[in-house]
Amino acid sequence: MGEALEARMRDRIGRECLYLPSCRLGLYVALRHWCRPGGRVLMSPVNDDVIFFVVLAAGLRPVQAPLDPRDGSIDESAVPEETWRTLDAVITTNLYGNPDPAPGLRARCDALGIPLLEDAAHAIGSSVGGRPVGSYGEASVFSLSKHTAAKTGGFLAVADPALREALREARDHLLAPSRLSAEFAYALRPYAEASVRGLRLVRAARAAMRLLGMEEREGIRMPLRPGELRQAVAEAPALTPFHSWVRVDMHDYRIRPGRARLHRTARLLDRLDDRLAAHREGTRRLLASPWAAPGAGPVQPLFRVPLLVADRDAAVAALARHRITTGYLYDPPLDDYASARFTDPPPDPEPARWFARHALPADPLRADRITAVLDAAGVRPAEPPPKARRTGDPEGGAGGPESGVRGPEGGGGG
Ligand SMILES: Cc1ncc(COP(=O)(O)O)c(C=O)c1O
Repeated sequence: MGEALEARMRDRIGRECLYLPSCRLGLYVALRHWCRPGGRVLMSPVNDDVIFFVVLAAGLRPVQAPLDPRDGSIDESAVPEETWRTLDAVITTNLYGNPDPAPGLRARCDALGIPLLEDAAHAIGSSVGGRPVGSYGEASVFSLSKHTAAKTGGFLAVADPALREALREARDHLLAPSRLSAEFAYALRPYAEASVRGLRLVRAARAAMRLLGMEEREGIRMPLRPGELRQAVAEAPALTPFHSWVRVDMHDYRIRPGRARLHRTARLLDRLDDRLAAHREGTRRLLASPWAAPGAGPVQPLFRVPLLVADRDAAVAALARHRITTGYLYDPPLDDYASARFTDPPPDPEPARWFARHALPADPLRADRITAVLDAAGVRPAEPPPKARRTGDPEGGAGGPESGVRGPEGGGGG
């Protein structure tokens, strides 16, 4: 399944790759392979809730990491020493394509003898420490729904090629059979979306989907349903009890793909370098806007550029009036969303809250249009973020990873 796609991805990142129907399924396979049930996993609280449920489904306890409020990356230096000692694995997020500090996290994981798993869903073209994101961990996962816009597909890339067969078996065991109706819907989707857009029916179509029960997010986060979640957690590790949470935004996440789907995905993957070049150029322009300031290091081909605005709701509304939809919002942070019943909070939750509240993920492919709308609407940049409280440094401090964007106070040589 997907061998031609795997060969393309192997050439790109220089690692053995396994194709899967989604990135989330790849992460589940990786967590089951590398982490024993009951283990504790450091992850970012500003993340898609789907990923949180994947971690729970793998029978693991999410431990929320402190974040750098300027770009939402993991603030490795603010993780307390006593927390490091309790961890069984680290998952990076590389939010919007801004890299987490993989070289430092790799060194930490090596010292502790625990695996580093990289979620490169947003970061297929990003690099850190002179290497591609996804080349540091025992395993890394990629989503073809993001930059490639295939709305299906992902990869699990592994450092040790000898593991490929065992992971392929684990993947195949989790796949649901291909359904003709799902393939048909997938093939028709681009045409249906284009006509809805052409007829300016987006709002009516969303209302109809809500009426039909197909829209699962009323707000930014999906409903937690804590009572049912508690039951599902008692059955973990297992994917099926978590199906209703993990399938959100992608009901085909574990369906064996048909030929038409794979064919279309391969065509889109072939165009990836052009897309990445366009993302990099759009990122450059957005980083020159008043709502962002570039950080140290090269400009990354970000999936979204997290502009930092004073009143995010007003900015989202202004863009919506020009039919620009803002997606990929992750507010509130996962510890506020799910409570201590389901996750350990970070030592200082404020930097993540600040970032989640002010970040406006801007599509670099629409950079000029977005900056024109924000300018015309008088959207103000956010006030500077709170200083991150470092362990053993009550005054806070600067620093942070190589990154594509910095908040309005600048920093990192921007
Ligand atoms: C950070 C992150 N990781 C993983 C995923 C899952 O990707 P997929 O939709 O391909 O399963 C998402 C989905 O949006 C995401 O935002």
